[in-house]
Amino acid sequence: MRSITLFAPATVANVSCGFDLLGFALESVGDQMLIRENNVNQLRITKIEGQMLPMQTEQNVAGVAGLALLNQLNTKQGFDIEIYKKIKPGSGIGSSAASAAGAVFGLNELLGKPFSSIELVAFAMKGEALAGGAEHGDNVAPCLLGGFTLIQSYNPLRVVSLPTPEALSVVILHPQIEVKTADARNLLKQQVSLKKAVRQSGYLGGFVAGLFQNDYDLLAASLRDEWVESSRSVLIPAFDEMKAAALASGALGFGISGSGPSVFALCKGVEIAKKTAQAIRHVFDKTAIPYDLHHSEVNPQGIKTL
Ligand code: HSE
Repeated sequence: MRSITLFAPATVANVSCGFDLLGFALESVGDQMLIRENNVNQLRITKIEGQMLPMQTEQNVAGVAGLALLNQLNTKQGFDIEIYKKIKPGSGIGSSAASAAGAVFGLNELLGKPFSSIELVAFAMKGEALAGGAEHGDNVAPCLLGGFTLIQSYNPLRVVSLPTPEALSVVILHPQIEVKTADARNLLKQQVSLKKAVRQSGYLGGFVAGLFQNDYDLLAASLRDEWVESSRSVLIPAFDEMKAAALASGALGFGISGSGPSVFALCKGVEIAKKTAQAIRHVFDKTAIPYDLHHSEVNPQGIKTL
């Protein structure tokens, strides 16, 4: 029976300026998965280590995404999936995305690559819908493609890979509290004013231009969120203080990673990233809530076979 073992990276979605559209992959955090052919004509989740998650295929994000792919192909071939979870569900760094994207990537490889990367993004989004109630692609796209990605359009689905300026360095603080994506989405206002929409479009366009032009000042001026942050940051203890400390340390920007509770800072260079990490650690220590602090580069490759 053929099998594949892979690493599916954690991801930061929204990146402040691109709600549901922009995301990037992390280098140092991610899940491992093993996918193996079976001869029972079924897709099964046979093992999950590291977290308590549903084993029933239809209730597991990897299962749902995998079924979407297999149904499209109309194949009888069955597969077993083992998931070794390092990314906590509800952490805001793309836990469900890693499982969903890992499943469709692995199945596609074992089946001889019948689907394109964009098609894999679409299948993986079915898993996201199970986890968070919405088919958003801003975690699964960077997980599958690596680097920064932009969903230019959902219908039809069009995903653009963006360049990563060399000196970008990332700090992630993950408070050990759980925020469900579905709950965090329910907090959002369903309407924004035209003025805010204009400003936010400028930030997203500016950020994308900054990536292409290696313009760190433009990136810093564009890492802003007038749509979502104020509704969600109330769920994250010491958010405003951490943001002030990160910006005072020279970070280009600081915001909520995906739907939280993790927060991220993008920095120019490792030295500023270290200083920023220290500063937000110092602030968050006062809350007495346990946390993980990760330092990472942007992962250029996305999912990789081990
Ligand atoms: N764009 C999604 C949201 C990302 O903010 O709800 C969830 O990780």
